[in-house]
Amino acid sequence: MKSRLKFYFDKARELIVDHQFIARDFTYFLNALEIPSTAIVLEDDLKLSKNHIGKINSFFSSYAQGIPIDYILGESSFFDFKFYVDSRVLIPRPETELIVERVLNFSLDLNAHVLEVGTGSGCIAIALGILRPHFKILASDLSADALEVAKINLQKHEVSNVLFIRSNWLPYAKPGSLDLIISNPPYLTPEDGHLKELTHEPISALISPNGTKSFSEISQQAIIALKPNGRIIFEHGYSQRLEVTKILKDSGFKNIISEQDFQGLDRLIYAEK
Ligand SMILES: C[S@@+](CC[C@H](N)C(=O)[O-])C[C@H]1O[C@@H](n2cnc3c(N)ncnc32)[C@H](O)[C@@H]1O
Repeated sequence: MKSRLKFYFDKARELIVDHQFIARDFTYFLNALEIPSTAIVLEDDLKLSKNHIGKINSFFSSYAQGIPIDYILGESSFFDFKFYVDSRVLIPRPETELIVERVLNFSLDLNAHVLEVGTGSGCIAIALGILRPHFKILASDLSADALEVAKINLQKHEVSNVLFIRSNWLPYAKPGSLDLIISNPPYLTPEDGHLKELTHEPISALISPNGTKSFSEISQQAIIALKPNGRIIFEHGYSQRLEVTKILKDSGFKNIISEQDFQGLDRLIYAEK
């Protein structure tokens, strides 16, 4: 019976052969629809409203096309906050939360001037803006589409200390004006095998020629824009630690420290001017 929840649980199970995580994602989706959790846990024979049936059917057709669950829901969790996402921006990754965690542990002025380069959905800048309301945060992206999404998130969270601008990296930043520069730039090479799985995310958020060009360009501009002893922090690909270390050194940075993510992979690097 197509009006019963049980029918759709059975349908999800039939699709497991081709879609390994569909049962988990379907449960997540039902929670987002605010279907009572007891009905979900018990796979109850609950009668669904027309509205819910429509949404559940469009879940199955989007899922079959490989559209990620966050885009289907239009929502992604990052650092315990919910962000609106669609195919104009990269879906925030759990390992990127490490940047925010590390920055919260830096000893910075209460009113630190911070710039995030390549902000996408705005998740890093906005999470930091909420948690450090006295920071003055500027966040940029080259993509006008991405900035539209970032602005939706700014309104959603009613943050007043974050400003978004469109720019190719950071040439606008006044020399010696910033305490901290943050970036999770595109870092895959155009040949990277992971791209096959990322067909719905914006390519401009993922790829940099030779994988490290974005780190070189940002580092060379950042060393000028930072105050003396100002800091830079990057997320990078798990095999890029040595290359990014060299880029930072060659650009004039000192005290370079590297950290690993939850999987023990090299992921974060930070340094001082
Ligand atoms: C890996 S995504 C990071 C998005 C977000 N900060 C996050 O961590 O989820 C990289 C972002 O850099 C932006 N970008 C790419 N090239 C850029 C450039 N030359 N100047 C500014 N932003 C750029 C992309 O549009 C994309 O939003």
